[in-house]
Amino acid sequence: MVERETWATRVGFLVAAIGSAVGLGNLWQFPFKTAANGGAAFVVFYLIAVTLIGFPALLAEFVVGRRTHRNVVDSFAELGGPAWRVVGAMGMVTGFWILSYYDVVGGWVLRYILGSATGAYFDDPGAYLSAVASGPEAIAAQAVFLAIAVGIVAMGIEDGIEKATKVMVPSIVVLMLALGAWALTLGGAADGLAYFLSPDVGSLVENAGTVIPDAVGQAFFTLSLGMGIMVTYASYVGEDDSLPVDGGVIVVSNTLIGVLAGVVVFPILFAEGIGPADSGPTALFEAMAAAFATLPAGRLLGVVFFGVVALAALSSAISLLEVAVSYATDNTDASRSTLALGAGAILFVLGLPSALDTGDPGGFSAWFVWFDAIAYNLLLPLSVLLVVVFVGWVLGRDAVAELRAGSTASGGLAMVWLWTVRLVVLLGIVATLALGFESLFL
Ligand code: PHE
Ligand code: NA
Repeated sequence: MVERETWATRVGFLVAAIGSAVGLGNLWQFPFKTAANGGAAFVVFYLIAVTLIGFPALLAEFVVGRRTHRNVVDSFAELGGPAWRVVGAMGMVTGFWILSYYDVVGGWVLRYILGSATGAYFDDPGAYLSAVASGPEAIAAQAVFLAIAVGIVAMGIEDGIEKATKVMVPSIVVLMLALGAWALTLGGAADGLAYFLSPDVGSLVENAGTVIPDAVGQAFFTLSLGMGIMVTYASYVGEDDSLPVDGGVIVVSNTLIGVLAGVVVFPILFAEGIGPADSGPTALFEAMAAAFATLPAGRLLGVVFFGVVALAALSSAISLLEVAVSYATDNTDASRSTLALGAGAILFVLGLPSALDTGDPGGFSAWFVWFDAIAYNLLLPLSVLLVVVFVGWVLGRDAVAELRAGSTASGGLAMVWLWTVRLVVLLGIVATLALGFESLFL
């Protein structure tokens, strides 16, 4: 077994975790889900889900990782006995499941950087999307996306993931702020923001049965929970870091980037007269591309915009690869590069159904929708449920002690966290699973 690595700095852990959290979930799903589900009213809902369920669950994953300094599978086994291995395994399965289509979308994003630079989609954004979204083009782009992620993970925790995310995450923030400031000067800004945020309580109440599981599933996905990622990243953290503070920074940054994404996207769409009817899952590609095609300096703006999305998607993909690589490094003598390449190869194969999915023009058809629905309604909630039962009811007081190490949180506050995990998070997930089950199968 090789000597275990650690983050070189606390900031290194923070940027890596923020890089994992900030991804397509923020830039692509969050704005459109919000707009479609009642605007600011949905944001309130989402904030409640993130604060009451996502944040405590994030801390639960941190506790397991830092307590053991082991990979996600062995950490649960070490703390609870061999049977609890299944929790780590479930996280890995969920992560591979999600990354299998996430990396295909990542490939599209890379393709759109190129398409923006050359203006290839300017004449007919719809036709371009159908051409690149599936088939050989999509497979090649997916391979490039994975190759970059594999390359970063192969270089290690400190020299690979930490160094890379220290450049990527600040770039995402700065470029998004610049894009947002510019978007607010556009003619469509007021209408765009109104569409994004104006509260529509009626639609929220009407759709409560699907909005609740959606908001909770989104909270898990967006915080990279239930995939072993935060357990693994926290396993490289020392005892002198404050987990509650780090977790808070991650949750707040992740939410702000999601809101900022809406501030960028909707003013641009409204300025170019691409209304709500055209947005939807393909909006990021089709509608944004159509907007760049007509905007002055559209090529440059397109490269910057899709470049930011690519950075965000890559820093998420590497966190997921690291889960598998860390498990394999802890258990074999093979080199990190070999293992990273192996994990990338498996993901490449798993992504083929999504990359070959021709479906309707725009590529979002059966496979994507199915993969995504199973992930949100079943795998993610189930996986987090197992973590929460373990940390709340099996680890219990030990978890409280680990949470408090390196932090100034009082014992009372830590107990509030424990009981939130034991009851609120648990019941929230059970409700989510029940409602999600209904929307999946009934
Ligand atoms: N948190 C990521 C996002 O919001 C989701 C993700 C992370 C997906 C890691 C896959 C791997 O986009
Ligand atoms: Na996110």
